[in-house]
Amino acid sequence: MFNPVEFIRTRRFQLREHTDEEIETFLQQYLQGSVKDYQMAAWLMAVCCHGLSAQETTTLTRCMVESGEQLQWWSSSEAYRVDKHSTGGVSDSVSIVLAPLVASFGNIQVPMMAGRGLAHTGGTIDKLESIEGFRTDFNVAEFQQICQQVGCIINTTGPTLCPADAKLYALRDVTGTVWSIPLITGSIMSKKIAERPHSLVLDIKYGVAAFSPSREEAQQLAMSLIATGEANGLCPTTGFLTRMDHPLGWATGNWLEVWECIRLLQGWKDNTTVRHSRALIELIVHQAGEMLQHQNPTVSYESCVVKAYQQLKSGQALSKFMEMVQAQGGDITAITDCDTYMKRTAPVDTVSFALRARRDGYVHDINALEVGWIAVALGAGRTQAGTSVDPWAGMRFHCQVGDAVREGDVLVELYHKSTLPQAEACYERLYQSFTIASEVAPLPPPILTHRVSKDGTTEMEMVSLEGL
Ligand code: URA
Repeated sequence: MFNPVEFIRTRRFQLREHTDEEIETFLQQYLQGSVKDYQMAAWLMAVCCHGLSAQETTTLTRCMVESGEQLQWWSSSEAYRVDKHSTGGVSDSVSIVLAPLVASFGNIQVPMMAGRGLAHTGGTIDKLESIEGFRTDFNVAEFQQICQQVGCIINTTGPTLCPADAKLYALRDVTGTVWSIPLITGSIMSKKIAERPHSLVLDIKYGVAAFSPSREEAQQLAMSLIATGEANGLCPTTGFLTRMDHPLGWATGNWLEVWECIRLLQGWKDNTTVRHSRALIELIVHQAGEMLQHQNPTVSYESCVVKAYQQLKSGQALSKFMEMVQAQGGDITAITDCDTYMKRTAPVDTVSFALRARRDGYVHDINALEVGWIAVALGAGRTQAGTSVDPWAGMRFHCQVGDAVREGDVLVELYHKSTLPQAEACYERLYQSFTIASEVAPLPPPILTHRVSKDGTTEMEMVSLEGL
């Protein structure tokens, strides 16, 4: 007879490995409601502390996939399907640009199941839902229909697709149980296996604001993700180890990040006055290049990255994004009039505050972990399961690491509800997350540092985008 308390105790005291049947039963009973949230939370914390074996992780992932349906792609002349997933970052809006960018090449599809905000990191789904009407809860048949019609879709987990991840994800978010290689593996790979793509690209982050602070841990996570995917029939999977120390873009928050993505998708000319984030562009085009090369392995990786960069810069991916927004029910004026959307749509009690430099100097650091938690406090994330986020809350940076600032310059604008009780504390905490010093700041190191595949990890050189 199965006893959930004995099951939790087995992990808590590392008495032995769980059997496949025990993991299956625990998860099934959780989904049926006889195992309670508090019991699951206790087990998740025990896993955070003591881990799971590779076999247990594979079984957990399989059970999470089998908790719902898997996509069944039907046509024989089907396009190549490739997806990407990030382990989570701050100001990491890559997926919102990447999916339409890759789909804009035609005969390649991106069936993406993404998540909501998780701990201090933002979630693609919360961001896209800041567009009025944008739906992310399509069932299997609708998901496939939109993906085949448009070439990409960004949906989330729910009653029919990975319900186990939907429930566990929401619980992990608010119980401090995100930081665990087997739990991250189960969460990410169950979604990706259920999509049944031909291949997968992973962005495994390391640094102060990543769930794997050190490169060694990120490498272990990469191997766990790849091996678990393979054990469940998903391959090939390749990926990158990428740095997550500073906010990746110019904005943090749900709508604010979508706005930044739209500005990127509009493209730019060499003499443009719009300053885009170098880190964001590099992440997008290197991962898009990898996805294109999965589809066509005879073409060089460098040429795929260059092709992706030129397509992004030309603005040609914007119409694919608009098609996706329209197919998912979103208000298209959010895209066509993105600069006025917030003013037109946000409630009147949304206020902003300009945080200014208190000295001259150079920006040496903006601590992304602090930025992420401050965004949550402003209302962009959750501290209780099932609550809604404030789509307008967040911040827009006026400088990045390496920039010179003068006393009185605006460093960042914060957006939140006028009634937010801890607003003043957020302003001060955000100021303290900046390091401004007299000496010139060193150039930020490369953002993508290593390539990973089942054969191991190698250092990588980024493809130069200079002069393109
Ligand atoms: N992304 C996910 O989908 N799950 C995690 O646990 C972390 C990042």
